[in-house]
Amino acid sequence: MAETVTGPSHGTGLPKGFRSAEHGWPELSRIPHPPHRLPLLGDILGASRRTPLQDSLRYARQLGPIFRRRAFNREFVFVWGAGLAADMADESRFAKHVGLGIANLRPVVGDGLFTAYNHEPNWQLAHDVLAPGFSREAMAAYHPMMLAVADRLMDHWDREAAAGRTVDVPGDMTKLTLETIARTGFGHDFGSFERARPHPFVTAMIGTLTYAQRLNTVPTPFLLRRAARRNQADIAYLNHTVDDLVRARTASGPGDGDLLDRMLETAHPQTGERLSAENVRRQVITFLVAGHETTSGALSFALHYLSRHPDVAERARAEVDRVWGDTAVPGYDQVARLRYVRRVLDEALRLWPTAPAFAREAREDTVLGGVHPMRRGAWALVLTAMLHRDPEVWGADAERFDPDRFDPKAVRTRPAHTFKPFGTGARACIGRQFALHEATLVLGLLLRRYDLRADPAYRLRVAERLTLMPEGLRLRPERRAAGTPVTAPALSGAADDVPSELRCPVHRAAD
Ligand code: HEM
Repeated sequence: MAETVTGPSHGTGLPKGFRSAEHGWPELSRIPHPPHRLPLLGDILGASRRTPLQDSLRYARQLGPIFRRRAFNREFVFVWGAGLAADMADESRFAKHVGLGIANLRPVVGDGLFTAYNHEPNWQLAHDVLAPGFSREAMAAYHPMMLAVADRLMDHWDREAAAGRTVDVPGDMTKLTLETIARTGFGHDFGSFERARPHPFVTAMIGTLTYAQRLNTVPTPFLLRRAARRNQADIAYLNHTVDDLVRARTASGPGDGDLLDRMLETAHPQTGERLSAENVRRQVITFLVAGHETTSGALSFALHYLSRHPDVAERARAEVDRVWGDTAVPGYDQVARLRYVRRVLDEALRLWPTAPAFAREAREDTVLGGVHPMRRGAWALVLTAMLHRDPEVWGADAERFDPDRFDPKAVRTRPAHTFKPFGTGARACIGRQFALHEATLVLGLLLRRYDLRADPAYRLRVAERLTLMPEGLRLRPERRAAGTPVTAPALSGAADDVPSELRCPVHRAAD
């Protein structure tokens, strides 16, 4: 069994329960690490606090399909070669590891779905209660709400387009995806499109994600004590917002069978057990966070590539025009028929999987790829962003954006487990279909309505905070002459049309 560091976090710099990777790998010395390793400090020369993922991509290219990095007293093993990553996808031998980055989020979301340890009973309970919330039937019910939120984005873009201004793509995509998960999951409206600055929920959320990431790169959290105080305030704010939201639902009675209703009303089909109030709070925060950051990044990267590849944008738009025709409001089934738009999204997620790594641990003593012995509990990070660039799978031009890589024929010729933006196995993303439906729908709507003009001087910069986002990306939308206005029925509307019970009850003074 891998050694477990169980001391309090401020003594060791590690969260309670953290297992340092090195002890589970008896032949660790055979795994390469960056040159110029320093005693005590590790591989910190040339490493950036702001871009650990992009540093890892650089090291991956230098060091090969498996490598390790050391930061102070922590050793991390990274796996990205397609053969080794496929081996780690074997559920009979490996499982999700709640590693350092995720464990750092436990003070916020505890045993919520994303952060639960595999053995915690609340994982299975919440998974079984909430999985039907992502069935085809449930998704079809979310579709009109997704359209209504997209309408609010397009109202905003129409105004900017009319004034000849550029739009803040990641900022607007974050508003869109936050409003979408809030409305579909919890019947809530944060009023993001009516605000000049991000909703304080988003600010607090980014604060906690950034703090969790910074904990990975300091020798002891003592160095972050000021940030820790801010983090406590952020957590309190997240809790407070969610408690208000739950209170409002409890007072008004069940909604229309959304995720919150399931959390509050549904008993486990076999055991009859229900989620506790504390666990509901954790799940609501989990879904609000996991349900929007990653999708917002995926949409932003896809829009970046569309703006840089007019031929791809033309082909995608021709598909939208063909499939949707004159339909003012695309129906649920018309979204999955946008096959090429979906390939654009997949290709953006290949190059920049917005959750760029996930951790796996050995269930029993095993030998990874027949070469690297691992003891039970030993773990490694699967570096998805590099797996998706493995030249043995994706070719020498793996860096090139080419949606045709996801042509069904091309997909069939690739080995299994080579495209993993949503993780793998039992703990893979529960919101995958939700994200793909939402993002494909929104790309279709935007392609149909606008030409997207890029700033020729812009060079893609990728911001990292647990998830990835194109930094500083602005585009100039121009209304297409033939662009058909899409107006969602009933739910459509600007702020004034939003029923007051859906409005955000919580405002910060600074907001
Ligand atoms: C493009 C968008 C998305 C990407 C790239 C993404 C990626 C991922 C990945 C890689 C994991 C597995 C993490 C691990 O193994 O540690 C995961 C888990 C999860 N995702 Fe997503 N996700 C996306 C959208 C969503 C959405 C829209 C929701 C909710 C509506 C969601 C909710 C979750 C939850 C709750 C888990 C934990 C599942 C479990 O452990 O049972 N995600 N996601």
